[in-house]
Amino acid sequence: MIHIQEVTKQFYEKKKYVTALKHVSLKVEEGEVLGLLGENGAGKTTLLRSIATLIQPSSGEIQVDGFDTVKESDEVKKRLGVLFGSETGLYDRLTARENLEYFASLYGLGAHETKVRIEKLAKTFGMRDYLDRRVGSFSKGMRQKVAIARTILHDPDIILFDEPTTGLDITSSSVFRQLVHQLKGEGKTIIFSSHYVEEITALCDRVAMIHKGELVYEGTLEELYREENNQDLNYIFMSKLVRGGQKDA
Ligand SMILES: Nc1ncnc2c1ncn2[C@@H]1O[C@H](COP(=O)(O)OP(=O)(O)O)[C@@H](O)[C@H]1O
Ligand SMILES: [Mg+2]
Repeated sequence: MIHIQEVTKQFYEKKKYVTALKHVSLKVEEGEVLGLLGENGAGKTTLLRSIATLIQPSSGEIQVDGFDTVKESDEVKKRLGVLFGSETGLYDRLTARENLEYFASLYGLGAHETKVRIEKLAKTFGMRDYLDRRVGSFSKGMRQKVAIARTILHDPDIILFDEPTTGLDITSSSVFRQLVHQLKGEGKTIIFSSHYVEEITALCDRVAMIHKGELVYEGTLEELYREENNQDLNYIFMSKLVRGGQKDA
């Protein structure tokens, strides 16, 4: 479970403070897929980076399975798989298997475990045919699979994807959707950010909408549709932003 409590994050840049997150509180239960929806600059990446222990909140705290992201970051890291953006960070001159072996060694996995994990992931993700080919010749969709496999080599219970399909074509985006379905079936807890509403409605149990660093909505899609008496998430999101904006004024 992820427990985010009153998290505020300020960046100091060019002699000015930028508040990227304002008192954000949110819980994500085990086995849940949460979609983080927000415009550019809303604070999505900052929130995911904070959960991933890559940055520290200015105030507030985050616990992952009861471990504090600041004081117990090693425990948190073990439980997380993270993929930021659609940049895969794979080595073109290595085969998919060699790439995965390399990252497995960074995770500290032993030789046997590495072999077993790669075989399993290659099977579930349908990568067997090209596991021993160089990544340089792969399509974006194939790369995406290898990148996601890399993210979950150590079999984390919780996976964070930050805008995983931004810049990808439709085929590669659907690869992502299919893999999230599979991971969800395995009981993984997943948070992914997106500004594509369709992706959120297709994959998520719950949605969190973030606007100018503030959480403007959090709940299941069903609750949201019922509350708003509308099934158009795009429309709901926009109207939440307008109302959120009024509240600020
Ligand atoms: N390292 C940083 N230094 C200064 N400002 C930052 C930094 N990271 C993010 N910000 C600012 O914080 C706000 C939220 O950014 P971000 O979390 O990247 O939004 P999103 O991922 O939703 O597009 C933006 O105003 C951004 O410019
Ligand atoms: Mg971002």
